[in-house]
Amino acid sequence: MRRAPGSVRDSIVGYLAAAECASLGEIHQAVALKLGGVAPSSIRSYINLNTPALFERTARGHYRLRDGHGEGAGIEAQQQTYYLGKSTLIHADCFGWLRDCAPRSVQAVVTDPPYGLLEYTEDEQEKLRRGMGGGVWRVPPSFDGHRRSPLPRFTVLDEGAHAALHDFFLEFGRLVLRATVPGANVIVASNPLLAHLVAGAMTQAGLELRGNIVRLVMTMRGGDRPKNAHLEFPDVSVMPRSMFEPWVVLRHPLDGRVQDNLRKWKTGGFRRISADKPFGDVIKSNPTPVGEKRIAPHPSLKPQAFLRRLVYASLPMGDGIVLDPFAGSGSTLAAANAVGYESIGVERDLTYVTMARSVVPKLAALSVQQIDPI
Ligand SMILES: C[S@@+](CC[C@H](N)C(=O)[O-])C[C@H]1O[C@@H](n2cnc3c(N)ncnc32)[C@H](O)[C@@H]1O
Repeated sequence: MRRAPGSVRDSIVGYLAAAECASLGEIHQAVALKLGGVAPSSIRSYINLNTPALFERTARGHYRLRDGHGEGAGIEAQQQTYYLGKSTLIHADCFGWLRDCAPRSVQAVVTDPPYGLLEYTEDEQEKLRRGMGGGVWRVPPSFDGHRRSPLPRFTVLDEGAHAALHDFFLEFGRLVLRATVPGANVIVASNPLLAHLVAGAMTQAGLELRGNIVRLVMTMRGGDRPKNAHLEFPDVSVMPRSMFEPWVVLRHPLDGRVQDNLRKWKTGGFRRISADKPFGDVIKSNPTPVGEKRIAPHPSLKPQAFLRRLVYASLPMGDGIVLDPFAGSGSTLAAANAVGYESIGVERDLTYVTMARSVVPKLAALSVQQIDPI
């Protein structure tokens, strides 16, 4: 059953406004009474997504509404701004920040959002930092004697989590539409299992779908034999071994023709690689090099060679601000610095904000080998 977007969130807020503090079980019961069947995972996902912006965790599994809850509550108190070369890094929840930022102030968005909804919550980050794996984090099998880094496990997402993800990207799309100028490119990292959901929700928000950028890279996903039956079915892989990463490409609708938009807003297309080479939608890439991971040990670090190509192309005239609302270690900001663009990054986890402050200049200064464009 598809509910009106935001109805689960509104019910949770309504209940907590009256109950003051409640356990996840109590919140689920109250919402289910109001809306009919709702998966407990939907409730968990909404609360995780909106903590600390809207909810505050009072004890394990117990939450209350933040004081003065609602639009960006508590954001201002937490917000801190840092300047790193041509980049501005903000410690905040990006939903609150996007609600408050000046409308039509951003010329491009290049970002890599959280997908499991759970993987960047306090609990899951604690597991990851203690090297526990488990939960949403999957440690791929090691080979060549190398231990692989944990990856978020998207296949644990159930129907409730998919619905929450849809609402997450719908709200995100609406806020991005407000923050960007007409013609702005909005480029969102995704994966083959969820790209359709991002595209659907963000077009519902009013952005136009313009295709995908395929990052050609051997990922550690897929290709596994059936779990606990691999000896019985040695010739079977459950899913194709994934060899690309889709980045969904959207656009803030144009103001007139492309040429009008370019003149007025400096957006509405992609910057060419060279006079005879347009920017293409398949980019050969490699996994993030170990040297970059050493500089910036973020679990989802994207490589500079790829990001620089993408960021460079995102502003057709090389003029404007590139926003990364889920900045992580600041790799997009570093790429923007490296190609000489202004950028803004928003990150809500203090550990990663601290990391970004020290690594953005280092990543930006790296000389990276570009793979020849296709
Ligand atoms: C997939 S990671 C991005 C990693 C980044 N591409 C890099 O190379 O370092 C997503 C990041 O978004 C942050 N995040 C999650 N929800 C957020 C929110 N509502 N506002 C701001 N940051 C958020 C997480 O803490 C995490 O660092």
